[in-house]
Amino acid sequence: MYPESLVKECQKRIEKYPCEGFVYGQGPEKAEIMLVGEAPGETEIHNGIPFSGRAGKQLSEFLDYLGISREDVFITSAVRSRPYKVVKKEKDGQIIEKKYNRTPTQKEILAHAPLLDYNICSIQPKVIVTLGKIALERVTGMKGNLEKIHGKMMITPVQKLKRLDSSEMVWTDQKYKIFPLYHPAAVFYNRRLLQEIYEDLDQLKNYIKEEGIRLNGAM
Ligand code: URA
Repeated sequence: MYPESLVKECQKRIEKYPCEGFVYGQGPEKAEIMLVGEAPGETEIHNGIPFSGRAGKQLSEFLDYLGISREDVFITSAVRSRPYKVVKKEKDGQIIEKKYNRTPTQKEILAHAPLLDYNICSIQPKVIVTLGKIALERVTGMKGNLEKIHGKMMITPVQKLKRLDSSEMVWTDQKYKIFPLYHPAAVFYNRRLLQEIYEDLDQLKNYIKEEGIRLNGAM
């Protein structure tokens, strides 16, 4: 699925940042739907399965609603290692350090950009569903504004790294269909988003039908 040399290179590129573990994308080589998240968390780096923690459970509920199984889609994220921050806390008179998940930085996203570039180019998905702002910006270059554009299909070139030794993103010649969704974890902080997300999922369901996308797992 991935050239090992590319994985090694990208693991080296992320080494200088506070990130740990490595989670491969998961799903069929010719998946017609690709889901792109932000970065794995603690659960994912321990079991190697993308979206297997709390956000993953929420994502599975969304997939069930769509009538899609995990085997139907390729699931990955902008960054494949867990970005963490260390927080010191006092407990029973002792200072303990704990790692917390954090949003990846632009440099970390660039360090792992060749992996997503490779996945998009080789899988050629009919629809790329971006989960959250970080994924949307990584894929389309669009900053902010998720509140306005979620749930509407866009047809646009996607960003890719110019060269392995470059930190410049350029556009693909090819256009892709991108469907921006909120990140599933967003509902943990704002339950009211659930209704909007389910409306977006209804839209996505229609597109899946219109595109004649083949689903094997759940159907
Ligand atoms: N969030 C992501 O973006 N990816 C995961 O694998 C888990 C949570």
